[in-house]
Amino acid sequence: MTFSPALPRTTTNGAVTVESPQWWRSSVIYQLYVRSFADSDGDGIGDLDGITAHLDHLASLGVDGLWLNPCYPSPNRDGGYDVSDYLTIDSRYGGMPAFQRLLKAAHDRGLKLLLDLVPNHCSDQHEWFIQALQAKPGSPQRDRFLFADGRGPDGSEPPNNWRSTFGGPAWTQVAAQDGAPGQWYLHSFDTSQPDFNWENHEVVEMFDDVLRTWFDRGIDGFRIDVAYAMVKAAGLPDLADPDAENPHLWNQPGVHDIFSRWRAIADSYDRELTLLGEVWLSPTEVADYIREGELKQVFYFDLLQQPFDAAAFRQSIAESLAGLDRVEGSPAWALNSHDVHRAVTRYGLIAPEPIISADANALRTRARGEVDLQLGVARATAAALLMLALPGSVYLYQGEELGLPEVQDLPDEARQDPIWLRSHGTEHGRDGSRVPLPWAAGQPAFGFSSGSTWLAQPDWFANFTVEQQQADEQSVLALYRKALRVRRSIDQANTLDWLDTGRADVLAFRRGDFINVTVFGGAPFAVPADWGTEALCSQPLVDRQLPADTSGWFRRFPSPS
Ligand code: GLC
Repeated sequence: MTFSPALPRTTTNGAVTVESPQWWRSSVIYQLYVRSFADSDGDGIGDLDGITAHLDHLASLGVDGLWLNPCYPSPNRDGGYDVSDYLTIDSRYGGMPAFQRLLKAAHDRGLKLLLDLVPNHCSDQHEWFIQALQAKPGSPQRDRFLFADGRGPDGSEPPNNWRSTFGGPAWTQVAAQDGAPGQWYLHSFDTSQPDFNWENHEVVEMFDDVLRTWFDRGIDGFRIDVAYAMVKAAGLPDLADPDAENPHLWNQPGVHDIFSRWRAIADSYDRELTLLGEVWLSPTEVADYIREGELKQVFYFDLLQQPFDAAAFRQSIAESLAGLDRVEGSPAWALNSHDVHRAVTRYGLIAPEPIISADANALRTRARGEVDLQLGVARATAAALLMLALPGSVYLYQGEELGLPEVQDLPDEARQDPIWLRSHGTEHGRDGSRVPLPWAAGQPAFGFSSGSTWLAQPDWFANFTVEQQQADEQSVLALYRKALRVRRSIDQANTLDWLDTGRADVLAFRRGDFINVTVFGGAPFAVPADWGTEALCSQPLVDRQLPADTSGWFRRFPSPS
């Protein structure tokens, strides 16, 4: 795996940052769940001017860029992943003027800006789907989606036995023009999210236009939603076991042709743009998405799905790095997102409750139960230091830098995730990681909004505010800031070599002069003298003993600070 050398760069406000020509290879990007970051106008919903107003928080954190979850016009049945217009910004988030203000302010601070591209499906309120419903079976309007006749003598059975990822059937029947039951359309997710037909040239060209429009407007790349889903198995065959994972919905070879096309579009610009795929597959399989001429980055979610366990982490990292010499692109790591329970809660779960779901991701990342908060924070920060020492880029999810746990105790009537609704309450879904951020105690909505928040914040958020952590050198926020600063001194050209720790529950690796050690087990680990001086530890190092549930960075030679 090769990395480009870093180059100094002066931003328009005079600050000097270091940027590689292929900045995306090693950048740290902050994921913004726009509705929940900061609200500038008091409607209780976060917006783009709210982000602009808090850019100093992000710049001082030390990230290289921002990824905005979808903020296009949307009925918001799935947190904006049901897009009704791909070419503009929802007025609830401030519309295009607020977008332009944010883009300029971000670029002025040397921060990249990525948007979320949702190409597998749109909203049922998108004009194309409205036209499709009004048109006849077999019409060009219906061909943009995956409509099919039902089975059974009167067509009252779905065309096949696939299940939606969010629970329930993957097909919904529409009314014919005379009001009688008509055809069915496929939706891999919610009923309100009809899947596009990617064999239809109008769909292909529409997304070419979406990419070009936003690139022309100045963004630096896209995170691509369920990037492995656009092409379905030919003939949409039935599943032997409809309750098992559905291999026909994902990872079909044809999807790679779309990425070659998009890569050519990105490469036609005279600046470095990134295309990052959301692909929930094994490390070996995801590598195919960053082969030469395809996407530049892909999420390696395998690490996020592991328990806090040395062997599991090592195997995942080793498998992830093993395939990289045959690809052109770069891994993107994350331990948190808007789709999984926050790492503090996952790693601090001491008494998990049984979870019922056909979704493998849910089983691995959204278990509920009793949490030891101190343990969870210790492990989550240790895992973060380990992740930040890996080769590749890192995506942090808002609130992670505050050590926020999952909000498990949302009132049921407040839950909005379609997973909660479609599973009839058997799965709680993802709202608990999407609760508006606490900025300051003693202010309405903890400084998030002057109005009432779209999702209620629990009282205990008072213990996790930005204001409080800013004043505390021992806070999680202070640790993340230091970590991002120290990370810049890791030469990204260095590969990763495992070191022998003599213990199965302690992992260590070297990248050049830089060593990362993580203690997963209960006993402290004596860091060998020749592993260098301490650069940063997630908990205090005492007499060169690294405590349990701690990760430390060491440098063989003190840095010339
Ligand atoms: C992706 C998004 C998730 C969304 C789904 C359907 O997995 O990250 O939030 O619900 O796609 O668009």
